[in-house]
Parts: sequence; structure tokens; C-alpha cells
Amino acid sequence: MRIDIITVLPELLKSPFEASILKRAIEAGLVEVHFHNLRDFATGGYKSVDDTQFGGGAGMVMSIAPIDKCISKLQCERNYDEIIYMTPDGEQLNQSIANQTSLKENIIILCGHYKGVDQRVRDRFITREISIGDYVLSGGELAAAVLCDSVIRLIPGVLGNETSALTDSFQDNLLAPPIYTKPREYDGMKVPEVLFSGNFAKIEKWREDQAYKRTQERRPDLLED
Ligand code: ADE
Repeated sequence: MRIDIITVLPELLKSPFEASILKRAIEAGLVEVHFHNLRDFATGGYKSVDDTQFGGGAGMVMSIAPIDKCISKLQCERNYDEIIYMTPDGEQLNQSIANQTSLKENIIILCGHYKGVDQRVRDRFITREISIGDYVLSGGELAAAVLCDSVIRLIPGVLGNETSALTDSFQDNLLAPPIYTKPREYDGMKVPEVLFSGNFAKIEKWREDQAYKRTQERRPDLLED
């Protein structure tokens, strides 16, 4: 998989890809992540990438021309399956969107800034608009990092234990069950006995019941559909 990220603040975005699982995925060649500074595609003395809003109103709007130049250059080099715009008014990121995105070959992620991008960028180029929640960030960079993390860990080979992404919370619309490690008892708190039973079927049944119970208590909305 190849991910091209278009941003005015590449430095805000790089560190999540320089540690731990994402770093290893890149080093193993399972994913390529490329950053494109929008300012490199701006023309004019000030290299400006934004301008005031037509019709008045506070806040700057990202201009179409530099974004067009950057996306068009990338599209000359390869085909893209998805051009994603990170925006608070997009569809809310969930495990299903992460799963779908992880199956793509090449994607572009455009990070918004200021008030957002000229609507014509969205009309012309964007194939999917994604929000990471009902709150407004200063820009799309942190949202893009969240999306990339949720996607990259699903690429086969990225996680050490091949099954571990499949047993995550949400993979079956259920939250994950409680988990324990050594010591068996800590300050009077005991690990549930069933986990020492050696009976795999019984342990699986316990985990399923716990996952269901936790989902019912915390996220009953997940059980609705
Ligand atoms: N840009 C600003 N806020 C955002 C959000 N909540 N999700 C995605 N992109 C954003």
C-alpha cells in the first residue's frame, strides 16, 4: 500500500510514523508513506496556499490551485483508489472504514487547515471525506495520523500476531473482553479462574460473554444493527 499525504505542516505529521508499529511497517516495505508540502506547489512571491472567503466571513480558505497541482502530479505517476479529505463534516471513522481503506493500493490523504478547502477541491478531486469525531482540530494532520494508524495496522504482516487485529474491539461490532497478565494475584485482586482452566472452548465462551456484557454496558448502540 502507498499513502500520499498532502499537508501544509508535514512536521506535525511525521513523528507517528517514526516509532513502533508504523515505523516497522514502513521499514518492512509493507506500506510507503510520502509527505507532500502544499507550499511547494504554491506560486507567487508569498507562496500562499490560502485566501480570504468570497462573500465575507472569518477565516482563510485553502485555495484550489496548489492542491490541484499536487494531486495532478501524483495522478500522473499512478492511479489512486481513493482521495480522502480529512474534515469534521465527513463520515465518522470507524473500524469498517479502516478495514475498507486497508484494502486499497494507493491513496491520497488531504489535510485541511484554516476554515477548510475551497468547495471546488471537494467537488473535483475528493472521493471520500472522513472525520475522526465531533470536535474540531486545528488541522487535518492529527486526524490523518489517526486514520493511517487504524489502516496500517490492518495490513497483513504489520502486526506480529496475525490474528491480533481480528480480535480487536469493534472487529465484530463488539468491544474487546477484559485481559490479564502475570501476576495471578495482585494486592488481593485475582485473575478469573476460568483463564487457568486449560479448556479453550470454555475460555472462548467466557471471552464472548464478557465482550457482549461490556458492549451492552458501554456501547449498546453497537448491538442495535
Ligand atoms: N480537521 C479538523 N477537525 C477534524 C476532525 N474532527 N476530523 C477530521 N479532520 C478534521
